[in-house]
Amino acid sequence: MNLKIGVIKGDGIGPEIVTEAMKVLDKTAFVYGHTCSYEQLLMGGASIDVHGIPLTDGTIQTAKSCDAVLMGSIGGDAKTSPWYKLEPSKRPEAGLLRIRKELNLFANLRPAVLYEELKGACPLKEEITEGGFDMMIMRELTGGLYFGERKTVEENGVLTAADSLCYNENEIRRIAKRGFDIAMKRRKKVTSVDKANVLDSSRLWRKVVEQVAKEYPEVMLEHMLVDNCAMQLVKDPKQFDVILTENMFGDILSDEASMVTGSIGMLASASLNETKFGLYEPSGGSAPDIAGKGIANPIATILSAAMMLRFSFDLDKEADAIEKAVAKVLKEGYRTIDIMSEGKLQIGTAEMGNLIAGYIE
Ligand code: IPM
Ligand code: MG
Repeated sequence: MNLKIGVIKGDGIGPEIVTEAMKVLDKTAFVYGHTCSYEQLLMGGASIDVHGIPLTDGTIQTAKSCDAVLMGSIGGDAKTSPWYKLEPSKRPEAGLLRIRKELNLFANLRPAVLYEELKGACPLKEEITEGGFDMMIMRELTGGLYFGERKTVEENGVLTAADSLCYNENEIRRIAKRGFDIAMKRRKKVTSVDKANVLDSSRLWRKVVEQVAKEYPEVMLEHMLVDNCAMQLVKDPKQFDVILTENMFGDILSDEASMVTGSIGMLASASLNETKFGLYEPSGGSAPDIAGKGIANPIATILSAAMMLRFSFDLDKEADAIEKAVAKVLKEGYRTIDIMSEGKLQIGTAEMGNLIAGYIE
């Protein structure tokens, strides 16, 4: 099978971590008799430098012509980078939001798993993490605050800014269905997270999720307020299977969940639409402070590539092979600096990629 993959290396550590994921993909393709053809796409700061805007129509078209897109990260240091002198709609992040919208990538899956080997990097007490945990954050990605109307006005010398959080029932229903579908393949529990004690959008969210739940009698549904969920994630992360939530809550909770797995450098993600197409990216940012140093953790990107094989190409065996290779490298004690602990072997980005590629079988 030929896999036509769009590649957005992006900014900061993006190029380094994507290079390693491509290495692992190429090795996997070789072992299993596939070929990968890559289309390099510019987005974020890299696109601003060339085109003056973070995403061009041409790039969107090329992305659409691919079977899937693998992405690194976009953005720079907001204090020092010239990209942040541009108006907000021309900054790197605007490119990411636009590609999600243009490709209708409404379902963002962010798995947070505590690897046995990485317990040492987890900041939680051992009695809390005993037995590990394995949750899937299902984040709505094309609605809510990040896409609502926003404005800043000045009246009588006083500045006022507003962002609106808007969801219609169809947007809620389609993400809820995805959440329940995923739960059916897992431990059959959905925790729907909202702020229904205050927000109208959350009250509608809850109502629609309850309607959808009726179609999935085997799945246990619970509702949780977002502030409580933030607390429960560090108090008892084992209780979660699928966390289903709107855009901003999911953004925040997924960073929190990544930290309890030991490092954001471990958290993969898939952004899917109604078709097989998906955009796959690590959940972490571009980390400009460590860019170019060869020390970034490529594992989240490599695991995102595994998700791509699974969801966009139905290549489950191949995806398993990548996940096993990652587990093996960790088991042997190799660590990038972010997940380093005593007695382990510290290695750089490229060495990590080489080792994982070497273990693909
Ligand atoms: C993420 C990031 C993005 C988001 C930013 C860069 C716009 O934080 O993917 O979680 O908020 O969605
Ligand atoms: Mg985020």
